[in-house]
Amino acid sequence: MHPDDRVLVDYRTADDAGVYRWEAGPALVQTVDFFTPIVDDPFLYGQIAAANSLSDVYAMGGTPLTALAIAAFPATGLEPNVIGDVFRGGLAKLREAGVALLGGHTVRDNEIKFGYAVTGAIDPDRVLSNAGARAGDVLLLTKAIGTGVIATAIKFDRAPAAAVDAAVESMLALNRAAAEALCAVPGRVHACTDVTGFGLIGHATEMAAASGARVVIEAAAVPLLTGARDLVEGNQAGGMRTNESYFPAALARRGGVDRELLWLFYDPQTSGGLLAAVSPESAETVSAELVSRGVLAAQIGRVERFNGTRIEIE
Ligand code: CO
Ligand code: CO
Repeated sequence: MHPDDRVLVDYRTADDAGVYRWEAGPALVQTVDFFTPIVDDPFLYGQIAAANSLSDVYAMGGTPLTALAIAAFPATGLEPNVIGDVFRGGLAKLREAGVALLGGHTVRDNEIKFGYAVTGAIDPDRVLSNAGARAGDVLLLTKAIGTGVIATAIKFDRAPAAAVDAAVESMLALNRAAAEALCAVPGRVHACTDVTGFGLIGHATEMAAASGARVVIEAAAVPLLTGARDLVEGNQAGGMRTNESYFPAALARRGGVDRELLWLFYDPQTSGGLLAAVSPESAETVSAELVSRGVLAAQIGRVERFNGTRIEIE
């Protein structure tokens, strides 16, 4: 039970944003996210950081309104335009989302970091969280996976242009249209999260745990970014191993799932897509809402009654 009944959602359901109802009408939804550079271009990095920070508000069905920048830059050694370009990229993405930048805070640090704390509004009766997935639900995913692998390959200069383009385009895309589509069919989306640092398996496991259910992911149905599968061997982000040890998955097939694919399911994502648990009779309607907004709608699995396993890959 929440000690403060104005808190509608907090860290206890492993959601990345919290919801606070401070008076009648819309409630506040708040989140914060920042990370080290994921691409070489500072303007792109700023844009991706903003899209990623806004994502947790969209994942809950909220509308982001304001942002505060959080930045760390080294005192020396940067080309003069870099800091400005990061901020300009972020601002361009915030403007695209209709979000006002109110201010921020910058510190000196040897390692660059950038992101935002974001505040939005949300209908307190229609909050989407990790909790609420029901047995029988269909799992929809709105972006292909593999950004961690491709970003690692970029860092070591071994990512083909097609893979870089695919990852950058995906990371730049706001989850706004996806969230609009999910909210267009009220009551039929039972749970939602975005797929970020814990990877597909980690975030699906958190949804299963918060919902008291288990999830089954159909390996062959999960969309992969161009080049991700070829790059995964030798370009594993550090977080992949951590995710693998934190979120063990049962394998349904005796032969298991092929190793590269399983690694990608553990791959930490930046600005990843939304993962939604949708009532089975509405899966086609919700998919059509997504597709009509130009958003991917991959049916990647289902929710089952909890039987001692949180997640199974088949
Ligand atoms: Co999130
Ligand atoms: Co987050």
